[in-house]
Amino acid sequence: MSQRTFSIIKPDAMRKGHTGAILADIEKAGFRIVAIKKLSISKPQAEGFYYVHKERPFFDSLTTFMSSGPIVALVLEKDNAIGDLRKLMGATNPANAEEGTIRKRYAGSIEENAIHGSDAAETAQFEIGFFFAGHELV
Ligand code: CMP
Repeated sequence: MSQRTFSIIKPDAMRKGHTGAILADIEKAGFRIVAIKKLSISKPQAEGFYYVHKERPFFDSLTTFMSSGPIVALVLEKDNAIGDLRKLMGATNPANAEEGTIRKRYAGSIEENAIHGSDAAETAQFEIGFFFAGHELV
């Protein structure tokens, strides 16, 4: 069944010039781009987006990193979009990511790991609404 997920191309991947390659990987894997925007977020906005991680030891560093430069926010659609995007991204830590995954190809560390993808349907709904208004989903 067709499903939507939310993704971010993170500041590390954008600084290294991997934005186009990652978008191409996503499209080649069969995702339709429902919405896309390049923007920068503030530290408080990053804290709002990642609030579920607020007790984690890496929260301060993660939100500093995510507000350190431009990102690309995406809404993607395909059958089993949430699971399939997570497969395409690979493990959170690129050292554990399988060959051919985005994180294996482009990520530098467990924090600066090139791409984010929603982990569940409720999370996707929250994350899409955080970045996009309904009229931007086309
Ligand atoms: P993401 O999929 O965006 O979800 C939470 C993010 O926190 C994750 O990708 C990483 O960027 C970061 N993260 C997760 N675990 C760690 C960790 N152990 N140390 C530093 N950053 C982490």
